[in-house]
Amino acid sequence: MTTFNRSKSFNQKALGVGSPRSLSFGTSRINRSSSVSHCLRVLVVIGSLFSFFIAIGGGYIYVLPSFTQAFHGYGISKSNDSIGDCNVFDGNWIVDNSYPLYNASECPFVEQGFNCLGNGRKDEDYLKWRWKPKNCDIPRFNIYYILTLFQNKRIVFVGDSMSRSQWESLICLLMTGVEDKKSVYEVNRNKITKRIRYLSARFNSFNFTIEFFRSVFLVQHAWMPRHAPKRVRSTLRLDKMDDISSEWVNSDVLIFNTGHWWVPGKLFETGCYFQVGNALKLGMSIPAAFRMALDTWALWVQNTIDTNRTRVFFRTFEPSHWSDQTHRFCNVTRHPMSETEGTDRSLFSDATWEVVKKMTVPVTILHITAMSAFRSDAHVGKWNDNLSIADCSHWCLPGVPDMWNEILLYFLLYQP
Ligand SMILES: *[C@@H]1O[C@H](CO)[C@@H](O)[C@H](O)[C@H]1NC(C)=O
Ligand SMILES: *[C@@H]1O[C@H](CO)[C@@H](O)[C@H](O)[C@H]1NC(C)=O
Ligand SMILES: *[C@@H]1O[C@H](CO)[C@@H](O)[C@H](O)[C@H]1NC(C)=O
Ligand SMILES: *[C@@H]1O[C@H](CO)[C@@H](O)[C@H](O)[C@H]1NC(C)=O
Ligand SMILES: *[C@@H]1O[C@H](CO)[C@@H](O)[C@H](O)[C@H]1NC(C)=O
Ligand SMILES: *[C@@H]1O[C@H](CO)[C@@H](O)[C@H](O)[C@H]1NC(C)=O
Repeated sequence: MTTFNRSKSFNQKALGVGSPRSLSFGTSRINRSSSVSHCLRVLVVIGSLFSFFIAIGGGYIYVLPSFTQAFHGYGISKSNDSIGDCNVFDGNWIVDNSYPLYNASECPFVEQGFNCLGNGRKDEDYLKWRWKPKNCDIPRFNIYYILTLFQNKRIVFVGDSMSRSQWESLICLLMTGVEDKKSVYEVNRNKITKRIRYLSARFNSFNFTIEFFRSVFLVQHAWMPRHAPKRVRSTLRLDKMDDISSEWVNSDVLIFNTGHWWVPGKLFETGCYFQVGNALKLGMSIPAAFRMALDTWALWVQNTIDTNRTRVFFRTFEPSHWSDQTHRFCNVTRHPMSETEGTDRSLFSDATWEVVKKMTVPVTILHITAMSAFRSDAHVGKWNDNLSIADCSHWCLPGVPDMWNEILLYFLLYQP
């Protein structure tokens, strides 16, 4: 039983965040039939709770000065939460000088294109923001505890370059807790590049991997069918999962995303059209096709993934902040925006909700669209690896993807 299961005892152990004592969760359960050990367990839980609150309290004292500088008005306020019931996606960005959580120049897994400071960005305010949910806090995790929690596990990201940047972020976050940095390496000694289909960072001392599979549409991209019109060079087979999907199966955590490639420029303008079965669907709209692809994904999860073992996440659309329709100009701002100007919603995110709601197995939505929409200050902009183009889709590292990962960890630890 070494799963990210949804049991009470798991959550109780997770509360020992400040004290990484229960290292091998799931495998060393104390004998329940003995009342002595039961008492001990209760004591341990109380002790853990106690140290947890001390740690949280300490955290508050530590960040208190920054609370007073908190900028107001960067929040989302349309919640329907009862008190104590925390929606981590409903909150606002506040200044927190304990950020950033790592130095990109010291983490070999940050690709050059995302290392904004390394590429000459001078203002550093964008590094100092923390997402604060309204009714709770996302705790600062004890990295060593997370490392031991991930022991013997396989964490898999599937999606586009946004997924790759979250992959890079999680590795860098966790590497801050690893003394021998050389014990963390890409298993095939590959360089991180934009088109690479598979990357796997192995944390050798802890025997786990964090992997990335590039699958920008999640469904299969195929060569053009026979007798297709000339303009059709390839198709997206909306009813078939990507060829490499079988490699995602035996994992403990699976995090999906897709969205940024579902645009005319990456589809029709490159000669890529939709296909269902043997039929070309030349007139099908992108939203309809996206929805069909998600339905295919949902069925695949239901039929293929043992959700008793694998915790499945889907991250919603990551908002861009371009200044124009053609995605050629953008202004990275110095501070987050106070208004999201509509970027807090996306039809891709809405479709994700609709599809996941109908699924018969548990899937957690990482609904980062609205929270990220405020962060016009956090994009790569001109500080990427190609000085001739600006980029207001991707995010600097460290930065916003770190917060996505803190929320991911929050769900793994606290939300069954
Ligand atoms: C808030 O949620 C509760 C339960 O989900 C629902 O009954 C209630 O109508 C909602 N209130 C508003 C204002 O949406
Ligand atoms: C990050 O690390 C590099 C190389 O070690 C160092 O030069 C730089 O000052 C560090 N940056 C910050 C913000 O600490
Ligand atoms: C490492 O983890 C794998 C599961 O991912 C497990 O099968 C294997 O036994 C572990 N190896 C050691 C040395 O613990
Ligand atoms: C998952 O666990 C439940 C409850 O223990 C069980 O009924 C179900 O058969 C399991 N599913 C699989 C695919 O093993
Ligand atoms: C970008 O910002 C500069 C200076 O703040 C401004 O002059 C310019 O119009 C902005 N460009 C766009 C495309 O918004
Ligand atoms: C930079 O981007 C331009 C335009 O997309 C491209 O032509 C050029 O090859 C790129 N340069 C590098 C070094 O990637």
